[in-house]
Amino acid sequence: MPASTKTRKILLVVFMATAVAMLAFADVRKGEYAPSQLGSLQQSTTPELTPDANFAASAYPVPALDLAPGDGVQEVRIYCNTCHSPRYVTMQPPLPAATWEAEVNKMNKTFGANIPVEDSRKIIAYLQEHYSTGARH
Ligand code: HEC
Repeated sequence: MPASTKTRKILLVVFMATAVAMLAFADVRKGEYAPSQLGSLQQSTTPELTPDANFAASAYPVPALDLAPGDGVQEVRIYCNTCHSPRYVTMQPPLPAATWEAEVNKMNKTFGANIPVEDSRKIIAYLQEHYSTGARH
């Protein structure tokens, strides 16, 4: 057998062995996201199964919804609850009075809330009184 053929055979065997090793390694690493790969997806460990149906779940973190009491709070509860939680109000930073008026107008015109004019006025007054700069509870 000429040397070149033997060398080629050896090279082929080495190549095949490397390929198999790489495939095996890739298979082992599949789905593994070590801390060294921060920024990539983290996969949780397999949950430990219990033989019974008992499990514990912590409380769902619901921040307290606490609209300030006052004239107009009822209207806010009625109208501003249709599309989203009134928390959208309470989680805002103190806003200037004009911003609250613009906000209610935006809900009415842009998002189609269509709250009757009288009630809108009451809501604006309520928001300005309780959630404007310097009037935060
Ligand atoms: C017709 C549906 C609808 C109603 C009713 C509604 N909203 Fe909204 N509101 C929206 C939408 C849509 C957004 C934007 C949501 C988002 O960006 O995730 C929003 C967002 C907000 C935000 C967050 C700031 C912003 O501009 O995105 C505030 C504050 C807010 N609404 C207040 C109110 C108040 C006060 C009322 C009652 C007067 C009200 N909303 C009624 C649809 C509504």
